[in-house]
Amino acid sequence: MSARRPIVAGNWKMNGDRAAARALATAVEKSSSGIATVDLVICPPAVHLTEVEGQLREAAGTEGRPQRVALGGQNAWDKPAGAFTGEVSPQMLADSGCRYVILGHSERRTLCGETDAVVNAKLKAALAAGLTPIVCVGETLTEREAGRTDEVVSGQVRGSLAGLGADDVGRLVIAYEPVWAIGTGRVATPDQAQAVHALIRGLLGSLAGAGTAAKVRIQYGGSVKPDNAADLAAQPDIDGALVGGASLDAAGFLAIARAFAG
Ligand code: PGA
Repeated sequence: MSARRPIVAGNWKMNGDRAAARALATAVEKSSSGIATVDLVICPPAVHLTEVEGQLREAAGTEGRPQRVALGGQNAWDKPAGAFTGEVSPQMLADSGCRYVILGHSERRTLCGETDAVVNAKLKAALAAGLTPIVCVGETLTEREAGRTDEVVSGQVRGSLAGLGADDVGRLVIAYEPVWAIGTGRVATPDQAQAVHALIRGLLGSLAGAGTAAKVRIQYGGSVKPDNAADLAAQPDIDGALVGGASLDAAGFLAIARAFAG
């Protein structure tokens, strides 16, 4: 079990129409009240953010309690505004009610060619906009089988966090997502995940000091489901989950969050 407050985030990816987004957000917020010891985040497609924000507020309001579920973007550009057709700035996400933004997801690294340098620029822009970045790193199957996991993950962490001071490192959430486990149903074993989480924490210690490293929350992501979450949550350096497919079902998402609540 982690010594930090767990954070469980749902990455909805490019799924759901407006009605589905509204229904899912309402169901997550309504069922979240019993999970007081875990930070909960949902990251809908950008086009649904405003609607989901209203829905979360309303769902909490009808129960007469503060909102439990925070909102996050799935990506952001590295500038506040300008001629960047099709992009969304971190300021726009914040203005739409987001507190978090996922950056450097492997789908964006692979499909959109995002390098560590791109992630680094986005990270700095997101911090400047007051958002908490959820920075994703993780090796491919080929890299793992070649025994290169530590080298690849360390390189991504160093590259993505380049130039950040200890205070800024302390504001991040890191998500370790082995690419071979994303959407495949093939979850890393708790020991495999713990080993990489410990490596990342050690590296954060050398970059930003042991005190900061001890505070930063490191999520595991990649085929997290209600039936494997408890074993992952039992590990000392796994401080939550970044959940893709299973976050599209409110009951499943909250079952994962409950596993981290202990
Ligand atoms: P998955 O996705 O849970 O569907 O494997 C995780 C992610 O991509 O963040």
